Amino acid sequence: MNMKVLLAVVVFTIYFGCSSVSGKRVSVYVNNMVAPDTMLDIHCKSKNDDLGLHKIAYRQNQTWSFKINFWGTTLFWCGMGWHDKDPRGFNPGGYIHGSFEIYNYKRDSKKCDGICVWNVQNYGIYFVNKDTKKNEFMFSWQPASTNAKETDL
Ligand SMILES: *[C@@H]1O[C@H](CO)[C@@H](O)[C@H](O)[C@H]1NC(C)=O
Repeated sequence: MNMKVLLAVVVFTIYFGCSSVSGKRVSVYVNNMVAPDTMLDIHCKSKNDDLGLHKIAYRQNQTWSFKINFWGTTLFWCGMGWHDKDPRGFNPGGYIHGSFEIYNYKRDSKKCDGICVWNVQNYGIYFVNKDTKKNEFMFSWQPASTNAKETDL
């Protein structure tokens, strides 16, 4: 291949790569719907970003936005946890937690176009369907433990 052809191939690959995938902006919202008076600890990361540990009040959300990378491999995961204060709850006194894939381009690009909304509830982590607005169950919490804490998220 001569240099001109090679250059043309590279330019076309970048052009179509960009126009189909990368540069597209996505906003994620994670709503704390666990229980009144229950804070949600949340710590989200990607390979390149660490959004830090946050405490979200009931019915509030953490939101952030990002651009899909050139390769379409954009991935964010979040450690989440909350103290079960309900004496008749899941695991009274326990710290209910887990780590979940909250944005995965390959999984989510068709499910939520631009805005991806999650409702975090006491029974698990639900994705909000963009058309029906209904909760779709996605993940269960890990078994509660008394020694886990938010700094481990
Ligand atoms: C985020 O939280 C605010 C404040 O509670 C709420 O008004 C808004 O609807 C939430 N956004 C989404 C997309 O769930």
